[in-house]
Amino acid sequence: MIREGKAIISVETPEVVSSDMPVFYNPVMVVNRDISLLIVNAMEGKDLVVCDPMGASGVRALRFLLEVPGVSKVIYNDINQKAVENFKENLRLNQVDQSRVEIYSEDATLLLRRLRNCDYVDIDPYGSPIPFLDSAIFPVKRGGILSVTATDTSVLSGTYPNTCIRRYASKPLLECEFYHEVGIRILIKKVVEEGAKHDYAFRPIFSYSYKHHFKVFLVKDIGAKRADQVVKNIGYLIYCDRCLYRESVSLDDIKSSCPFCGNRLLVAGPLWIGELWDEEFLQKVWFLRGNVELSQDTVKVLRTIKEECQIKSVGFYTLSALAKAFKIPNLPPKHKILRLFEARQTHFTPEGFRTSINHQELLRRVKDVLLRNSGVNTQA
Ligand SMILES: C[S@@+](CC[C@H](N)C(=O)[O-])C[C@H]1O[C@@H](n2cnc3c(N)ncnc32)[C@H](O)[C@@H]1O
Ligand SMILES: [Zn+2]
Repeated sequence: MIREGKAIISVETPEVVSSDMPVFYNPVMVVNRDISLLIVNAMEGKDLVVCDPMGASGVRALRFLLEVPGVSKVIYNDINQKAVENFKENLRLNQVDQSRVEIYSEDATLLLRRLRNCDYVDIDPYGSPIPFLDSAIFPVKRGGILSVTATDTSVLSGTYPNTCIRRYASKPLLECEFYHEVGIRILIKKVVEEGAKHDYAFRPIFSYSYKHHFKVFLVKDIGAKRADQVVKNIGYLIYCDRCLYRESVSLDDIKSSCPFCGNRLLVAGPLWIGELWDEEFLQKVWFLRGNVELSQDTVKVLRTIKEECQIKSVGFYTLSALAKAFKIPNLPPKHKILRLFEARQTHFTPEGFRTSINHQELLRRVKDVLLRNSGVNTQA
């Protein structure tokens, strides 16, 4: 028996979590489940219908029913019959009223094509979400939220660029210090693009990276003009691996050489160049968090993002990239760096910071403060 949030579940827990488990349960993914509950908890309206098409043990479905007051019904599905039986047992264990669940056991791609009018759909597969994306855009109602988890983060982040190009039709960029953020932006682009084909406008409101997964949340609107508007946020990233210059640009504005140091530029994309978080919605998520039982890691991630989202930048800098690029012998401690660049900590990596000062100003402060204080002769 395992307790997670307000749910109790009975599952076998082997030493190694893998897709070979008879019924899948990964305790590390508690952060993923916590955040999905928090997002739905902050949605307007009551009698919300949540769809969990790859439900496994049903821990997420149960927690929605037990912890989020606005949720009236969960649609649970898993192709694995053993998982369905396990979910039914877990329903009994938690004494949840059967009338609050609809249970299916079929290929999620087919079910998602048939379902309509869901307030929230959670795509949480093994590995890449690609096989499910083209059907997942349909069951979400206007104003509803689609959430997509990807565990193929090394593909999205550039370790296997050819796989990323084939799967997501975008070029990643492992050479930059914010390669995970590039990956999340490629994932968002893919969801936006899937929707736009059908005149749906999906707009991201929350995204995060944690251990080996990315998760993105997008609100759905309907209409060709609205879809045209969101698609305008798809563009490219240009990056200099010598002086760390970066800029998000449209196709027409891709440059080939760095305006600061003349180095040839690297290009990633197409990817989402709009915002990763809706600040107002995030404040609400934070304010209402008391309803949901959260793990300590979830609170940590959320607290960092609450600050990070106030800076609207594509990409961030890291201490080690700065030190290496500008040959800074002694970097001051992190809190001084944050102050120097008027920056906020990013949740992507402990050594990363997001700043809204432009690259020219960053270079000036590197030279006038960091290099000078390290005793480097900056006049040469
Ligand atoms: C990563 S697990 C889901 C974990 C679950 N959402 C949670 O939070 O504990 C993926 C699940 O998807 C199921 N699955 C795999 N392919 C599927 C398909 N085509 N249709 C429906 N379910 C599928 C697997 O049986 C497995 O239980
Ligand atoms: Zn440069």
